[in-house]
Amino acid sequence: MPNQTLWGHPKGLYILFFTEMWERFSYYGMRAILILYLTAKTSEINPGLGWDKVSALELYGWYTMMVYVMSVPGGLLADRLLGQKKTVMLGGFLLCIGHLILAFDALWAFYTGIVFIILGVGALKPNISTMVGGLYQKGDTKRDTAFTIFYIGINIGAFAAPLLVGYVGEVINWHYGFGLAGIGMALGQVVYIWGQKYLKNIGNFVPIKREEGTNRKVKLTPIEKDRMLVLILSFIIVMVFWGAYEQAGGLLNLFARDKIDRVMFGFTVPASFLQSLHAFYVILIGLPIAYFWKLWRKKGKEASSLFKMGIGTIITGFGFLFLAKAAMDASIAIDGKASIYWLLGAYFLHVVGELSISPVALSFITKLAPIKYASFMMGAYFMVTGLGNKLAGLLGEAAQSAGEKTIFLSVFAFCVGFGIVLILFVKKLNKLTHGADSEDSNIIIVEAE
Ligand code: PHE
Repeated sequence: MPNQTLWGHPKGLYILFFTEMWERFSYYGMRAILILYLTAKTSEINPGLGWDKVSALELYGWYTMMVYVMSVPGGLLADRLLGQKKTVMLGGFLLCIGHLILAFDALWAFYTGIVFIILGVGALKPNISTMVGGLYQKGDTKRDTAFTIFYIGINIGAFAAPLLVGYVGEVINWHYGFGLAGIGMALGQVVYIWGQKYLKNIGNFVPIKREEGTNRKVKLTPIEKDRMLVLILSFIIVMVFWGAYEQAGGLLNLFARDKIDRVMFGFTVPASFLQSLHAFYVILIGLPIAYFWKLWRKKGKEASSLFKMGIGTIITGFGFLFLAKAAMDASIAIDGKASIYWLLGAYFLHVVGELSISPVALSFITKLAPIKYASFMMGAYFMVTGLGNKLAGLLGEAAQSAGEKTIFLSVFAFCVGFGIVLILFVKKLNKLTHGADSEDSNIIIVEAE
């Protein structure tokens, strides 16, 4: 039974697909309305908490950082104690409880709910990704396709959630929205429990044997040292990138609500709806971008991972130029609002950047890290993603005093400058990888996503 296949893949893959799809549905659904709920006035028909924007962005930054930072203990818990399968189960339960609590209209419920969600995502997200890989033998080419399928699941969840949860939460009642996100998670959990029979052989706890003679001290060879250096650099790139990109759910969500004319074809688009755009674009251009880099490499052009990451950073930066233009337009418009097209364009460029950085970076990191640090690196990747989220929150806070235009222009200048420097040094930096980046690293979809 566990080895049964469907459309060429183990049935377990589809179980993980739907579980993660619903988990992301709940995460992105909640996230789409979080900042709007925190800052909505207490006197509104659908009353929020009435916080000022700085406090709201601060909490938002901590929250989005912690969900990913907790992946590190989440991974350890699986490795040392429970195995991935049980840790995912635990995470799912924590998430169901967290979302259920959020549906209550009380401050204690709000704080307790988000703590449960942080712990839940930390337990579920890294381990479910590792389980996908566990369904295949090493070197099985279906593995990459499996991650592609899994990644599509993530983005279907991330696309649908802001529309449904966003509508219910922003237009009807915030707590119904949180509740709906919770129903999504509960469905994911039901699928996971029901699907256990297809997951018999994977994600089980395997005690780690200490190999005899293993040197506990970190003694790295000169080659490993060089690679470590490039690894640290790639972590910085990843952090800078998410620091820019992840402003979407915080600062840009508020910006869309207050300073963008959201009337399209006679219909006022709720701000939260725009949170589904990233996932929509990923589904739309994920494969074309992968194909583009493949052709580029075939033509014999520079297509190393660091080069792609540099280009991705520059393109992301240009998205902020669009946003700066919108901020400028809004500041002089009579109604104080700018055209929505700047935002649609900026998000598009951000996704082009995402597809050239996020999957590429993860595969790069796993290739460069010494084998004994492979799972640690997965955790580290999630951690820098978390730090990037915090950076995004900090930039949002800064925008409240410096103004959006200044922040958008600064992010634009920094990302473009940083990307250019990276590209100028790419040949030198590539040498430090000592050939570890030579095979095609352009797998668009990889584990942590
Ligand atoms: N869109 C990705 C996801 O939700 C973002 C992400 C990348 C999150 C890497 C964590 C780590 O899965």
